[in-house]
Amino acid sequence: MSDPLRALRPWESPEVTSWGRLPMNALDRRTGALPLDGDWRFQLLPAPDAPVQGVWSSQPVPGAWTVQGTDDLPQYTNFAMPWGEFPPDSPAANPTGVYEREVDVPAAWAGRRIVLQVGAAGSVLLVHVDGRPVGVSKDSHLAAEFDLSGVVRPGGRAVLRLTVVKWSDASHLEDQDQWWHAGITRPVLLYATDPLRLADVTVRTRCDGTLRVDCQVRDAGGALPAGWYVTGELDGRLLTQDQEFERFKEKDGRVSDFLGEARLGTVVADARPWTAETPALHPLTVRLHRADGSVADTSHHRVGFREVEIRGRDLLLNGERVYIRGVNRHDFHPLTGRTVSYEDMRADLVTLKRFGFNAIRTAHYPNDPSLLDLADELGFYVIDEANIEAHDHAHEIADDPRYLGAFVDRVSRMVLRDKNHPCVIVWSLGNESDYGANHDAAAGWVRRHDPTRPLQYEGAAKLDWADPTVASDIACPMYAPLEDCVAHALSGRQTKPLIQCEYSHAMGNSNGTLADHWEAIESTPGLQGGFIWEFWDHGILQRVNDGRPAGRGGAGLYDHGVTTPGHRWAYGGDFGETIHDGAFVADGVVFPDRTPKPVMFEHREIAAPVRLAYTGGELRVTNHQHFRGLDRLAAEWRLSLADGGTRTAPAELPRVPAGGSAVVPMPFTLPEEGGEAWLTLRVTTADEEAWAPRGTEVCVPQVRLRAASRTVSATATAPGPPVEVDEDGLLVHPLLTAAPVLSLWRTPTDNDELGGMAARWRAWGLDATRRTLLDVRRGNTGVTVIAEYTTLAGAVRHEQVFTRVGGGIRIEETADLPQGLTDVPRVGSVFETVAGLDVLQWYGQGPWESYPDRSTGAPVGHHSLPVDELFTPYLRPQESGGRHGVRRFTLSAPDGTGFTVALDEPRQVSVTRYRDEDLAAAAHHDELVARPGCVVRLDAAHRGLGTASCGPDTSPGHLVRAGTHRWSWTLRPR
Ligand code: GAL
Ligand code: MG
Repeated sequence: MSDPLRALRPWESPEVTSWGRLPMNALDRRTGALPLDGDWRFQLLPAPDAPVQGVWSSQPVPGAWTVQGTDDLPQYTNFAMPWGEFPPDSPAANPTGVYEREVDVPAAWAGRRIVLQVGAAGSVLLVHVDGRPVGVSKDSHLAAEFDLSGVVRPGGRAVLRLTVVKWSDASHLEDQDQWWHAGITRPVLLYATDPLRLADVTVRTRCDGTLRVDCQVRDAGGALPAGWYVTGELDGRLLTQDQEFERFKEKDGRVSDFLGEARLGTVVADARPWTAETPALHPLTVRLHRADGSVADTSHHRVGFREVEIRGRDLLLNGERVYIRGVNRHDFHPLTGRTVSYEDMRADLVTLKRFGFNAIRTAHYPNDPSLLDLADELGFYVIDEANIEAHDHAHEIADDPRYLGAFVDRVSRMVLRDKNHPCVIVWSLGNESDYGANHDAAAGWVRRHDPTRPLQYEGAAKLDWADPTVASDIACPMYAPLEDCVAHALSGRQTKPLIQCEYSHAMGNSNGTLADHWEAIESTPGLQGGFIWEFWDHGILQRVNDGRPAGRGGAGLYDHGVTTPGHRWAYGGDFGETIHDGAFVADGVVFPDRTPKPVMFEHREIAAPVRLAYTGGELRVTNHQHFRGLDRLAAEWRLSLADGGTRTAPAELPRVPAGGSAVVPMPFTLPEEGGEAWLTLRVTTADEEAWAPRGTEVCVPQVRLRAASRTVSATATAPGPPVEVDEDGLLVHPLLTAAPVLSLWRTPTDNDELGGMAARWRAWGLDATRRTLLDVRRGNTGVTVIAEYTTLAGAVRHEQVFTRVGGGIRIEETADLPQGLTDVPRVGSVFETVAGLDVLQWYGQGPWESYPDRSTGAPVGHHSLPVDELFTPYLRPQESGGRHGVRRFTLSAPDGTGFTVALDEPRQVSVTRYRDEDLAAAAHHDELVARPGCVVRLDAAHRGLGTASCGPDTSPGHLVRAGTHRWSWTLRPR
């Protein structure tokens, strides 16, 4: 017998967005439902029309079969479709998962309306019950509901079959830059309602406490039910129905099922407004009553009183222009792919909150519904984005009428699902799909249905940031050069808020110039923020021996961003894919296990709610929040003296309102001696917050109280041993296993590689310079060594003057870079030490990794870390572990032996276990083998990181240019 659902071939019909699927609504039916999660019978067919076999295995639901033991493995592509068919076609080889299980339908559901909800499945879902066709759905990131009332028997047992077709016409709309997966990725459940029921509830608020609730009522009964009504309960206060619109049609004693719409309303005079800083939620229960007062249906909501508005070029939240400190977030997990638990999502948001983020763009599809519940609760502004990315075939699809329905379907269903969340402040029509009539159609639907929120679409806005006619109320470019943003804001023709939907690409060791962005944003009216790309490094935990995803069994096989032996973070190509985009999937501010990368600390400081300024001898504390006072924060003063260690003192934060500031007394008297002095305010949470225990560090703003004195105090210690150099002019020193030589190279970062700089540097031969000794001159107090390093852009002359000084050796270096070397990664020294020097203490910026254009968040002070913890385990090994602004450092063994290096100026320094060649030879962090000694690099100049893997390079001021570079340092054994 042929199956009508398969006969319809919905996987090759873009016009078919669903069949038999119920309309989307904003009601949460999870409470009281029968969960159908767990192990289902499973078989993977080679194509949707292949016959189902008698042999079954099993698969957990929810989950993606691509990470759960099948031979159909994950594949990563950025925008290239993984196969060659043009829209709307898909390949003949098309993995199709058949999931089956029995369901015992509760006998108590007799007379009730029974609904199946599949949380997410894709790309096409076919539903059968007891062999009968029930429905079809598309959109892998939204739930699909089907009415099973006449199909299953309460008290009986039914066989539920869900068939998931991996590839389809819809795959062309789901071409987001992420792993391709397939399966049933969100929970499945069965629930029952009274035939007379709430069909939808729409909550609207204003920040003055105005509440309006529209309740749509339907009845499957078919006869006219007399006298139903709706009540509400907000914070325990009763709301009564003030209007009712009957919508039903009556004919021959029968009525249509849409009975009408009832409205509840009130003004809560003392409502606490909802903002990301003060996410006050008011519980609302809506009840639908039968004429006798009994309750037919109940729906729970959490109301946030807030209002979004665009006035001129400002996006206002409750009338206030708020900065959007956002990040792009995918539904991702290193073990389960797209299936994420409530606890995981909560942990994501807690992490973001602790690092100063206040906004999320759900890139590039509606995220799991719990994410929005959590964002309401913890306080985030959300740009809710529809599941439309036609990237590879964007131009064809944006205007293709066969896809028109799919555009409107995807956008409208997202809005219907999420409209009651206070956290959602802007709708997004999708990502990277060109701009066409299909977008305008979807925009038209949204504007009519939800006039309370702006909408945005980068593809439309980019035509002209100021054009009012396109489907975007916000100028929301991606990776726009900062100068262009500032120029637009100053041009006089800006008409919309400028909030970048993506900026500061976090691939590998990145996010250079983030602080420059925020300096501009906070000082340029019209610029309001943006969303960093992105939250996650999407590494999938993989077993190295068989190349399989570790799946759920991999729990605990990683720690602090690093995998345990025998495992690695897989990126594109690691599952044997031939079409892939490599490590481009690892571009987040956290590692695959959510360990924060150093950029998180940079961001935390840039977003600091408390700022410190020291001018004209006056110390000023500013409350940089939008809505809160400083009362829920505590603080401590810390004074770091270059030559005198650290002192602390309790701090009292001034009672200033949001935006206010106050002069505070200087907590310390500076000692006369002691050189440079830095004052830090360590700010922590004063109370338990939903996102942090009391005492959690929030920011560490710092000011310099006194500059370094120029006069170097002559430490009159005994002169060091005579300087010794070998026949190659290389320093001989008992603690060094490789003498300091000139380095013009850093193992390219992802930005260096993808931005094309590394290729240029390799073409110049900077990774393999050959050293030729030109001259060695020996004098009474030391030795001068002159060498030449060949590059294809000319020779670099390098001079080292070794002088015997109190207790050690001073090394004064000069490098003359020929004009052809217009832009190099670094100019500095590199040397290696004996084994056993395992702790680094330094006075400079830290404790976390910092680079010249990513150093705002690393305060100057006395820091100490084991050498093994200095290196950041970026998935693809690259330049890592640097510390900026280092004035002095000591490497020591447990017995206290070791050496101290004092630098002439604050310099970029790194101490790692790896040579450049070690890093270059490894494609994944787990392949690195730590050397017993240390590789020490100290730089006269180090190039900024920029973000050129996708976006602007570092700023011109952070380039390392040709010409003469000078630096000097002293090396003293301890
Ligand atoms: C953007 C895109 C993102 C991602 C990013 C690069 O163009 O919207 O999905 O691909 O670039 O990582
Ligand atoms: Mg893309």
